[in-house]
Amino acid sequence: MTDISNMAVREIVQQSELKHIAFIMDGNGRWAKNKGLPREFGHRAGAETFKKVLRYCRKIGISVVTVYAFSTENIKRPKREVEAIFSLLLDYIEEARDEDGVEFCFLGDPAALGEDIGKKARALEEDTRGGAHRVNIALNYGGRAEIVHAVNELIKQGKTEISEDDISANIYTKGCPDPDLVVRTGKETRISNFLLWQSAYSEFYFSDAMWPDFSADDVDAAIRDFAGRSRRWGGLDKNETRK
Ligand code: FPP
Repeated sequence: MTDISNMAVREIVQQSELKHIAFIMDGNGRWAKNKGLPREFGHRAGAETFKKVLRYCRKIGISVVTVYAFSTENIKRPKREVEAIFSLLLDYIEEARDEDGVEFCFLGDPAALGEDIGKKARALEEDTRGGAHRVNIALNYGGRAEIVHAVNELIKQGKTEISEDDISANIYTKGCPDPDLVVRTGKETRISNFLLWQSAYSEFYFSDAMWPDFSADDVDAAIRDFAGRSRRWGGLDKNETRK
């Protein structure tokens, strides 16, 4: 295996064919609580971290970034917290228009969160179509609901028997490579209904950092860790042969 300790992260990204990183941005609430602040402050700091991480990922050559911004279950949170997250998302949807060369896609059912957010999310998708980098924002998203959505689409198309390729062609991320690496911050080691179909062969990296504290150095650490893994896709290492 190549010694990557002295290699620049950009080179590692290229060499390890790392195209897509997905982030579960956990720990905003605890970050705020630890500072004696309301949870909303954690989400505001988390939105800033999201922008920095996104910029950094672009800089080092990651083509696709996916983030879990709001799950189908997050609506159960107190109204004040939900409204604070929606307000940050609406602000970001405006700001995102200044990102050059980025195609934005929303995974999930943003329209069910309200007409305003639904319309603005879809307009951003339409207006940024064709960008060289892709950012997926999972918004009112659930991994099981996504698979059910795909199956229902296939039923509408008249299918009576389906393949894995049919599901892949009808999930929210259609046309997008599956995540090579899924990073979860906030000391939790669960998948929480995120990208259940797409993460079948992803590598997982868990960080103890709360999301607002997650930095470019932490992205580097995750990538170096990823590059040291042996991805076998259920088969054997390239240099191993079956006797
Ligand atoms: C999980 O932390 C985070 C969320 C449910 C919301 C994430 C939203 C943002 C970062 C802001 C808006 C996003 C964008 C893309 C502009 P948690 O609240 O569950 O943390 P905890 O486990 O410490 O309570």
